[in-house]
Amino acid sequence: MCGIVGYIGPQAAAPIILNGLRRLEYRGYDSAGICTVDQGGIEIRKRAGKVADLEQALHVSSMPGTTGIGHTRWATHGVPNDPNAHPHADASDTIALVHNGIIENYLTIRKKLVKAGYQLRSETDSEVLAVFIGMLYEQTGSVEQAVRAALGEVDGTFGLVVVSSREPDVMIGARRGSPLVLGIGSGEFIFASDASAIIAHTRQVVYLHDNEMAIVHRDGSYVTKTIGNEATVSAIEEIEFELDAIEKGGFDHFMLKEIFEQPNTFRDGLRGRLQLEDGNVRLGGLESVRDALRTAQRIVITACGTSWHAALVGEYLIESLARIPVEVEYASEFRYRNPIIQPNDVVIAISQSGETADTLAAIREAKMKGATVLGMVNVVGSTIARETEAGVYLHAGPEIGVASTKAFTSQLCILTQFALLLGRMRGLGQLEGRELAKELDAIPAKIQRILERVEDVEAIAREYASASNFLYLGRGVNFPVALEGALKLKEISYIHAEGYPAAEMKHGPIALIDTNMPVVFVATKDDIYDKIVSNIEEVRARSGRVIAIATEGDTHLHSVANHVIEIPETHPLLTPILASIPMQLLAYYIAVQRGCNVDMPRNLAKSVTVE
Ligand code: AGP
Ligand code: GLU
Repeated sequence: MCGIVGYIGPQAAAPIILNGLRRLEYRGYDSAGICTVDQGGIEIRKRAGKVADLEQALHVSSMPGTTGIGHTRWATHGVPNDPNAHPHADASDTIALVHNGIIENYLTIRKKLVKAGYQLRSETDSEVLAVFIGMLYEQTGSVEQAVRAALGEVDGTFGLVVVSSREPDVMIGARRGSPLVLGIGSGEFIFASDASAIIAHTRQVVYLHDNEMAIVHRDGSYVTKTIGNEATVSAIEEIEFELDAIEKGGFDHFMLKEIFEQPNTFRDGLRGRLQLEDGNVRLGGLESVRDALRTAQRIVITACGTSWHAALVGEYLIESLARIPVEVEYASEFRYRNPIIQPNDVVIAISQSGETADTLAAIREAKMKGATVLGMVNVVGSTIARETEAGVYLHAGPEIGVASTKAFTSQLCILTQFALLLGRMRGLGQLEGRELAKELDAIPAKIQRILERVEDVEAIAREYASASNFLYLGRGVNFPVALEGALKLKEISYIHAEGYPAAEMKHGPIALIDTNMPVVFVATKDDIYDKIVSNIEEVRARSGRVIAIATEGDTHLHSVANHVIEIPETHPLLTPILASIPMQLLAYYIAVQRGCNVDMPRNLAKSVTVE
């Protein structure tokens, strides 16, 4: 959660930091603040609210100084008010820090500080760390040593940047558990939570490792070390995406832009991988674990939120194409239930951000238990991508909208190819493989066709924007799509929505059906089509309102459902990809109708780097 930025170089720091915060705002938006170092002192301007409010109320862009840090917060400790906003200073206003993460032993440290006579100005765990560093600074006289000593005593997670008025030519960044990237410009450095705040200045970056610090100097030199003070070698990497990938490009919201990008992002996920003639797939990132895949007895997929829904679809895909038993685990539960991992198990983590703390903890647990751990991750160079033995990138490009859309379909793209690869290794015939590969290849054009009829979904959204509840139902491989449809609606429109396997409706949720209950069905033509039509009838018999996602040309559904959204015909295992598109659009247009902030829904943040 939260975005942090730090700048040191020849230019005025505040405008650069402000722009960086605008880029990172999707990571947290409770409050924001900037601190600059100038003429032997630090100045902090911060307040509750969005980055735009910060500039409007406090004119931060005119703050003097060529060294500075900034923060956009997603509160964990203390309400989102002005004093709790970052940056936080020490007691003597000598050092200031921005922090992403949680200092778990902050109460113990706080007590020590209070006993030593320090007074704290906020309720946050982060300020405790700032004051603690300040105290150690008094003793050591070196900001680097003070940070190092403090971090040695801290439990929990942090990505942080520290500045000092006494050493205005030095800036320190450090991380454990939360991401931190160092951008290396010509004679300037920018620290940021992710590369989107850096790309406007330089493409050269160092992704800091866990327990690593970077000490950067105004003269253009820098070193990286472990927090324990051992030298480390950090490779300079190139940012892979272009600046326009993180701009709205004429769309009202990032979410809509990302929905419309899906024909391309899906194609990017197939490029160089799908082998149409052989009915097979080449996933370069998994070559090194081919043997483990060939002999895997079981696959465990772990993820959170939307990525967990993709994992559920993956379970169907892998079990039906490769006949390997699959279990899907919430990453947030996985490590706390002492999971049974056997020697031939393969564990896969799915994550858009590659930074989700729960997922990271789950893979560490799986690794500790001896599993082969793989990643399906979008953000290149992210922690999960680095900590897994092998993996496949989604290649969906930066996803800024907090509600995940294109990353979901890209996850399905990768999972389908993974299942096909595994299937072909384990007896799936070439003909079957070819048929699926051909259908996969046709998906981008079919997504495009759905997007061309966006007005139909918009009209339905207008009709239901004032609903208080929604049910989403689907069967088989489309059940997870129902869960994902409900999650999208909840996240951005704040309408209560639930997803169920359609046949489960009669075991309870049917009690909720009345004229005020819209029910979205995935009712595409497959071998359980008749069953789902019966479920639709059951809803209609109780005066529920039905929105059916149907296969193009299905005339029957028009007579039983109130609304029909058609999607092109495809292989039954690929329907989740197509069916999820109208659901994304429905959630989007309902949220817009309700005047919600689609890209920054309340209480959420894009990347959940706290447990
Ligand atoms: C999706 O719309 C969510 N905002 C959220 O559920 C997300 O999918 C989840 O936090 C997992 O994130 P990750 O894919 O980056 O690990
Ligand atoms: N724990 C800190 C706070 O609540 C940092 C939260 C964040 O990562 O934004 O202020």
